[in-house]
Amino acid sequence: MNVLEVRGLSRAFGGVHAVRELSFAVAEGTVHSLIGPNGAGKTTVFNLISGIYAPSAGQVYLGGAEITDLAAHRRAALGLARTFQNLQVFANMTALENVLVGLHMRLDMGLLPQLLRSPALRGREREARAEARELMRFAGVERYADAFPASMPFGALKRLEIARAVASRPRLLLLDEPAAGLNQTETEDIDLLIRKIGDSGVTVLLVEHDMRLVMKISDRILVLDNGRKLGEGTPAEVRRDPQVIAAYLGAAALGPKAGDIHAE
Ligand SMILES: Nc1ncnc2c1ncn2[C@@H]1O[C@H](COP(=O)(O)OP(=O)(O)OP(=O)(O)O)[C@@H](O)[C@H]1O
Ligand SMILES: [Mg+2]
Repeated sequence: MNVLEVRGLSRAFGGVHAVRELSFAVAEGTVHSLIGPNGAGKTTVFNLISGIYAPSAGQVYLGGAEITDLAAHRRAALGLARTFQNLQVFANMTALENVLVGLHMRLDMGLLPQLLRSPALRGREREARAEARELMRFAGVERYADAFPASMPFGALKRLEIARAVASRPRLLLLDEPAAGLNQTETEDIDLLIRKIGDSGVTVLLVEHDMRLVMKISDRILVLDNGRKLGEGTPAEVRRDPQVIAAYLGAAALGPKAGDIHAE
């Protein structure tokens, strides 16, 4: 069963064809990665899937139902969550409250201020806070529960943003460069976190430039170049694909024997 299917998706900005007739599917329970050079159209694909931009052509299906024309919040309610390449957390809320925003997506309790203040909802608020804390533990940022984002390290903020996205219990989670700007240890933490998310049954579509992370974690990889699909397959297939190597990976990125590197 495909959680996501994209058919003939295109989007231009003025004369720039950011995404061109792109079709692919993401099977339930897999980690699927989208890679390609800067400007290849990866974030635009995320924006089209999550409803931030409308496509100029093509369709998007979530769990078999067409969502092409739905507003972003409707898609979120149907089980789509994402993080952003340029980290987006609420600076005026504590880390825990940031996660509560994600929970609120699912709990259907009206506006967040009510969730936080209404006496009638206090019991559920306690539950929600306990669950938010549990999600923070899951993401390894529990110690920052009462901290404001300005006082948190960048690596913790990236994991906080992921915790908030996971809080909505999505069917499909889009992660746009979760390891960008992180050192090796922090990248390994993200690797583990994505694995745990995958193991919990959430399907993941990942955009990431860290090839070691991508090759380790992905069930399938789609390579974009100039808005077009250049190749698609398992990590082993993609790293052997001469077109992909020439356009993106480059011999240097894969070591001296790029053409015949084997799976593990
Ligand atoms: N809102 C926009 N307005 C105009 N052009 C845009 C817009 N969004 C994206 N583009 C253009 O579309 C192309 C694809 O951009 P996109 O951000 O999707 O690439 P990307 O693969 O995510 O790159 P990176 O790896 O640098 O994040 C680029 O040429 C970019 O300048
Ligand atoms: Mg991008």
